[in-house]
Amino acid sequence: MNQAQKKRSLSGIRSSGNVHIGNYLGMIKPALEYQKDYDCLYFIADLHALTTLRDKELMHQYSMDLVATWLALGLDVNAHTFYRQSDVPFVTEYAWYLSCFTNISFLEKAHAYKDARANNKELNHGVLAYPILMAADIVMYDVDIVPVGKDQKQHVEMARDFAGTVNAALGQDVIKLPEPVIREEVMTIPGLDGRKMSKSYNNEIPLFCPEKQLRKKIMSIKTDSTDMEAPKELDGTLIGDIFKFFGQEQQYTDLKSRLAAGGMGWGHAKEELFQVINDYLKDARSEYDKLRQDEAHLISVLDDGARKATEIAVGPLNRLRSALGFKEVEL
Ligand code: TRP
Repeated sequence: MNQAQKKRSLSGIRSSGNVHIGNYLGMIKPALEYQKDYDCLYFIADLHALTTLRDKELMHQYSMDLVATWLALGLDVNAHTFYRQSDVPFVTEYAWYLSCFTNISFLEKAHAYKDARANNKELNHGVLAYPILMAADIVMYDVDIVPVGKDQKQHVEMARDFAGTVNAALGQDVIKLPEPVIREEVMTIPGLDGRKMSKSYNNEIPLFCPEKQLRKKIMSIKTDSTDMEAPKELDGTLIGDIFKFFGQEQQYTDLKSRLAAGGMGWGHAKEELFQVINDYLKDARSEYDKLRQDEAHLISVLDDGARKATEIAVGPLNRLRSALGFKEVEL
């Protein structure tokens, strides 16, 4: 099958912090699996990051971290497209078109907006318009599926709604409606304190940090103070839940029965958890460390991606432009 006949998968991740294992399990890993059967477009959502991050050095650093991360994990940038959102500025134009068809009250229903409001976070217009830009990200590429973590599901549903509204208003199917896809088994990844793993809770396990730091993070998981000798139940604990994502089933049942037999402390269980995570990540981490040193290469990957992404976007953009009575753009 050539790329043109393939269905398209698109997803993005904000460059607003360090990549953590919640990002990996919830989004990056499933997204990478679509490489086999889909034409994939994955990108760095730096325009979205700007709603909260205005430090240009950090923005650059997080963006470079993301390119190196995706490459180290096996994204094939020759067969697929990896780009930086701000390198394809047509998306802000597309977002404007969607804006003019979308009622504000609809945007006020977004969970992320409501959270920001409830927690007295800065409410700039970007926070309110966030789902519009995200919808433009998606529909400007005639996307079929959008692999996202559970927290982004509402945003993808909103993208469908915005697109449907425009189609209805124009009386034609100008915009293709995307589907969110969420892996049930990785719906919510718990963080170090048991709440959802998130930058905003400061409870993340970084994906590629030095081994020592990874161990320290794992060791900081809070456990009950049952004494060392007492038998312990692994099921339903945070250590057990995280272990399941990285260890084989056999390793899990083995650890479970040793804990149940007594004489083993939670500290030992955490050490084993560290080992399985570290074994899982170490090859990709050394690849990451190598890639991360060559920013010129990372930037050339992005430049290439921006060219490919622009070529794809111009078709859907022109469809909407001409439906609205605007002149088509030429590349
Ligand atoms: N909002 C997403 C997040 O915070 C990032 C994102 C931006 C995105 N545009 C997108 C995800 C389009 C999927 C599709 O993680």
